[in-house]
Amino acid sequence: MTKKIVKVGTFFSGIGSPEKALEKLKKEGIIKDYEIKFFSEIDKSAIKSYCAIHNIDDSYNLGNITKIKGENLPYCDLWIGGFPCQDISCAGKMKGFDFKSSTRSSLGWEMIRLLSEVAIKPKVVIFENVAMITSKKFRDTLTLFKNDLVKLGYTLFEDVLNAVDYGIPQTRKRYFLVALLNKKSFTFPKPINNTLIFKDFLEKNVDEKYYLSGKCVKRKLNKVYLDNKKDNEIRYEVDLRRYKNGGLCGVDKKCKFNQSARIFSPHGNSPTLTANNTSDNVKILVEVEDNEN
Ligand SMILES: C[S@@+](CC[C@H](N)C(=O)[O-])C[C@H]1O[C@@H](n2cnc3c(N)ncnc32)[C@H](O)[C@@H]1O
Repeated sequence: MTKKIVKVGTFFSGIGSPEKALEKLKKEGIIKDYEIKFFSEIDKSAIKSYCAIHNIDDSYNLGNITKIKGENLPYCDLWIGGFPCQDISCAGKMKGFDFKSSTRSSLGWEMIRLLSEVAIKPKVVIFENVAMITSKKFRDTLTLFKNDLVKLGYTLFEDVLNAVDYGIPQTRKRYFLVALLNKKSFTFPKPINNTLIFKDFLEKNVDEKYYLSGKCVKRKLNKVYLDNKKDNEIRYEVDLRRYKNGGLCGVDKKCKFNQSARIFSPHGNSPTLTANNTSDNVKILVEVEDNEN
């Protein structure tokens, strides 16, 4: 256990999942404690959630990263930033993460700017992004990004980890870049056995508008066709074998967008929730009312 209290600051803080991880490390006795010195977020709802989740005043929010000046930042041992990934992920248009692109993902470079401005650099900086950042399209820019960190004195360690390998039944691959100032070695945690399924995380009493449950109106071998209670027309095509095994099990025939047309079973791993899913919810089939059984 580290005897020190870890001083932490996060950028692109969202609802503060890295802070949640620190809370877990404290509970498990791996760190003594941690202290949030600041966070940086611009989305009003995220800020409200962050403050409620971490029981912290919104005066700790430094707001827009582009307006932050390094010399005004309090010292932290650890910085973490999962910079916006819409322009990098395959769900987006893949135009981001460049010096000149002026896209949201180029905001990642702001952390490099701040690292060069602070009087005392954090010992550990963790960057997180979608796995796509390691693809050929972004490789050169990622190399420039990493070169800048090396010039600032950091030793780098990188890997793509999948949440399913770490006790969470969600397929969610993320790139992690760990930059260490005074240490030359680091190993990413080894995968652990996952005993949970997506269903274990679903609440029991949820309003019908949040999930999908259809009545079987037609059956052909292993395929069932369900109607939506609202429009009484065949809409969902579901493969029962896949439904029982978990994962992608069907399609919403009326949905125009490939990603949000997919129907998932709760009997395995959850899919990655994309930005699209926030406006057109991911479809999780909780139950098949199969008349022919
Ligand atoms: C990929 S999310 C990070 C989520 C975060 N890791 C969490 O645990 O919730 C990126 C976040 O960056 C925020 N963001 C976008 N532009 C920003 C800016 N200029 N300054 C600070 N935060 C910004 C977005 O509002 C969004 O919440």
